[in-house]
Amino acid sequence: MPPLHRLTPALRRLRAPNTLCPLSRPSTSRSFHLSPRTLDEKASPTTSASSADHAPQEAPDRAQSKIKYTSDSYPDLKRDSRFKKVTKEDVEHFRSVLGSSEAAILDGVTNETGEEDFESFNSDWMRKYRGQCRLVLKPETTEQVSKVLKYCNEQMLAVVPQGGNSGLVGGSVPVFDEIIINLSRMNQVRSFDDVSGVLVAESGVILQQADEHVAKQSHIFPLDLGAKGTCQIGANVATNAGGLRLLRYGSMHGNILGLECVLPDGTIMDDLSKLRKNNTGYDLKQLFIGGEGTIGIITAISILCPQRSNAVNVAYFGLESYEKVMEAFKEAKKQLGEILSAFELMDAASQSLYHKASGAKLPLEAEHPFYCLIETSGSNTEHDSEKLNAFLEHVMSEEIVSDGVMAESETQVQSLWACREGISEAGQHWGGVYKYDLSIPLPELYELVEDARKMFEGNGLMSAEDESFPVVDVVGYGHMGDSNLHLNVAVRRYDKEVEKALEPWVYEWVAKRQGSISAEHGLGIAKKAYIGYSRSETMIKLMKQVKGLFDPNGIMNPYKYI
Ligand code: FAD
Ligand code: MLT
Ligand code: ZN
Repeated sequence: MPPLHRLTPALRRLRAPNTLCPLSRPSTSRSFHLSPRTLDEKASPTTSASSADHAPQEAPDRAQSKIKYTSDSYPDLKRDSRFKKVTKEDVEHFRSVLGSSEAAILDGVTNETGEEDFESFNSDWMRKYRGQCRLVLKPETTEQVSKVLKYCNEQMLAVVPQGGNSGLVGGSVPVFDEIIINLSRMNQVRSFDDVSGVLVAESGVILQQADEHVAKQSHIFPLDLGAKGTCQIGANVATNAGGLRLLRYGSMHGNILGLECVLPDGTIMDDLSKLRKNNTGYDLKQLFIGGEGTIGIITAISILCPQRSNAVNVAYFGLESYEKVMEAFKEAKKQLGEILSAFELMDAASQSLYHKASGAKLPLEAEHPFYCLIETSGSNTEHDSEKLNAFLEHVMSEEIVSDGVMAESETQVQSLWACREGISEAGQHWGGVYKYDLSIPLPELYELVEDARKMFEGNGLMSAEDESFPVVDVVGYGHMGDSNLHLNVAVRRYDKEVEKALEPWVYEWVAKRQGSISAEHGLGIAKKAYIGYSRSETMIKLMKQVKGLFDPNGIMNPYKYI
């Protein structure tokens, strides 16, 4: 039996069997906004949680550390000379289509708009990629997108579709001077049917707002992720984002019923079907799901939203080994079955990093090598509690988990989730992060983190305290329920030596285990060169043919993907 603990005032500590009393609570929507990032800003924690006895560690002052231009980081990459440079006449044309307001066009071609006004469009969330775009277009309608793309295609002007710019592979920012087509003004919900659960909405709707919209009629958007307050639903589809509840609701490939897309030549592909079943020919919309803006721009989506659960419980456990985490997962599937909605993994280093960066107090007093967060969502409070009690009793009495807490209020739900969702931002706290998003068979999943840590312990690049070392720490976390590991190497600065140590080592490691080098973040520019570790030559050739078919001039998001 695990030792008995004093109940903490904030969260109910899970103790001996039969003393558990999980409370069901109405389904809620958590609210997260990414801290706006500009060049002159320090990282700030995802949540406002803080505690006096755990002051956040000071982040190095990065005000001076400008993000390197991608063209400098990738000197082998040359601007494609087929692409025209934007002229005054082009800008005039775009004004005739979109109007002249600043909301529609950010123009640094014909006027003096300073570089700093473009920074939030040109640079990515990780502060790793930076383009040199001098023209941002923000269409408001599908017809405007169509006219803009048609013109760009005729004029050989390269473009980058952009949503909330929270992507983690450098796909949403230009490499050179590509025009950014930002979808944020296409933000209307077109319809929601509470009988079928089908939401039809424009691409620029923020994920959290889409969820709040359907929540009013007791439905849930079938995707949730840490960037929900910033990312856009069209881009979520374009990246085939996975997130925190894929285990329960499945991927975008399954939930998207229809898409409205604009092809590079301006053709509007209206496939905004609301049908669940439609076996009439090739399912072309699937190519745009995860297409990362390389074959067209998604302007609207039709998506199936499930009924929102009214009984949601969240528990956070400490475990002594990765084997115990796997056992806990097996038991969760067996005993919680259809009410299991998330099973997330965090290692000790990731929680310590989160604690140091955010100042938030961790839920458990003692440190454990592993933690997991389990969420259940069901429709019947009594039924769920019965199942959850049996599960908790089992994992505690069998010593599968060593300690745990369960949320009893919405605030506690938020603070438990923050321990998981806050890791991404915490990883950035010291200056930057090398991110690897991998599918690995579960039994071997965590070995990669151990091997990476060993490598950095041996190669003299890592120190938690000494600022002259580039690497701060190696952490592992992810969507255990989807066999999806996030290996993050937190660094004080982006450094070629660190990159050389990691790549292609990580990709070779994953390929040997028949894993995927990109589980959910996509390829962008970061993973483009490595696609061969996860896809055969035949597959890559077919992908290139698809790209050529839709975008013969190659104007859509060039230098990326394949
Ligand atoms: P952007 O970053 O602007 O664009 C992403 C890509 O889509 C780019 O290639 C862009 O060109 C293309 N694109 C954008 N809009 C369109 C469009 N309308 N049509 C065609 N192409 C388009 N991802 C996950 O999968 N799971 C997670 O759990 C997760 N958590 C995250 C947590 C944090 C804190 C952060 C910062 C990111 C996280 N991400 C996660 C990554 C990111 O949020 C997702 O990839 C998201 O879908 C990107 O949305 P966005 O609006 O920011 O798109
Ligand atoms: C997550 O699961 O938190 C996201 O995919 C973002 C990240 O990898 O940090
Ligand atoms: Zn993830």
